[in-house]
Amino acid sequence: MCIHAAITAVGGYVPDNILTNKDLEKLVDTTDEWIRTRTGIEERHILNEKGKATSDLAVGAILPMLSKKNIDPLEIEVIICATVTGDYVFPATANVIGDKIGAKNAWSFDIGAACSGFLYALETGARFIESGKYKKVLVVGADKMSAIVDYTDRNTCIIFGDGAGCVLLEPNLDGYGVIDSMLHTDGSGREFLQQRAGGSLLPPSAATVEARQHYVYQEGKTVFKFAVTNMADVSYEVMNRNGLTSDTVNWLVPHQANLRIIDATAERMGLDKSKVLINIQKYGNTTAGTLPLCLFDFESQFKKGDNLILSTFGGGFTWGALYLKWAY
Ligand code: UT7
Repeated sequence: MCIHAAITAVGGYVPDNILTNKDLEKLVDTTDEWIRTRTGIEERHILNEKGKATSDLAVGAILPMLSKKNIDPLEIEVIICATVTGDYVFPATANVIGDKIGAKNAWSFDIGAACSGFLYALETGARFIESGKYKKVLVVGADKMSAIVDYTDRNTCIIFGDGAGCVLLEPNLDGYGVIDSMLHTDGSGREFLQQRAGGSLLPPSAATVEARQHYVYQEGKTVFKFAVTNMADVSYEVMNRNGLTSDTVNWLVPHQANLRIIDATAERMGLDKSKVLINIQKYGNTTAGTLPLCLFDFESQFKKGDNLILSTFGGGFTWGALYLKWAY
């Protein structure tokens, strides 16, 4: 009997405070028109409450999901949190989340794979379920990007927002759940999208703060070039090797970094626009949050047995696609 890891619940959360393109016009030399046409973003949500961190975004997604499904946090066995904006450098944000939701029986850890973090975490969580040892694995993608965005840099501040999403993974014996995936890493791309200081290479100092090296640095054009090719190729390959066609794929759930990257991916797969899930206009790029937030926003449209392809590209470089059959 083959055990598949099925998503049995989804949650999502963004803070109330909204930063519009018009607001950004006041901070940097940009226009609403430029941002909309180059990225598809109209607004993003920003966590600006003092003392609130990435774990709070995650908890905002998780608690309503568990209560909707009537699941006691004590039933959760593993928590995996994908993030690049953890509450601390260490310990793991997953540990903080476990404490805040009262998941006293879970062990937990973080995965740092930038925008691909949620897909990497989902792949990892799926293997735990498929092993037969674990029955309830919580996979979270959460990022408070506003903590590392330089609001004087128009190349990056227009893109990112804060948000979190989560899924519960449980075993399924009827063929629903994660079916296949292809994940990739190319560390030689690390210099094009990174937070330069704060790690062991360049520990924090007055000089690194002065040089604004604790903020996100991105060479947008280069990242765009790699993203557009790799996300499209890997999504097409996963579709192809599972015998799926543009007709039998029901939904593409793409990382929300740039509408033009999403369009190129959909085009490569030959998908009709109606099958492509897009919420970038509302949230911008929430890094590890984009994929689960997308699942959360469109959950009501999925039917049991639908074929979903989740795909992503991000800093690292990291990228991949995952095929799953919706279980409810
Ligand atoms: O999620 C992780 C992975 N990240 C991504 O996938 C992001 C990939 N990159 C992108 O999405 C795009 O490269 C950006 C949205 C970041 C930038 O768009 P672009 O079309 O690649 O613009 P560009 O960097 O080539 O800049 C074009 C022009 C430049 O002016 P000149 O040199 O042509 O005069 C920029 O200086 O637009 C200028 N520009 C801006 N103008 C108004 C750059 N940023 C802005 C801005 N507002 N915010």
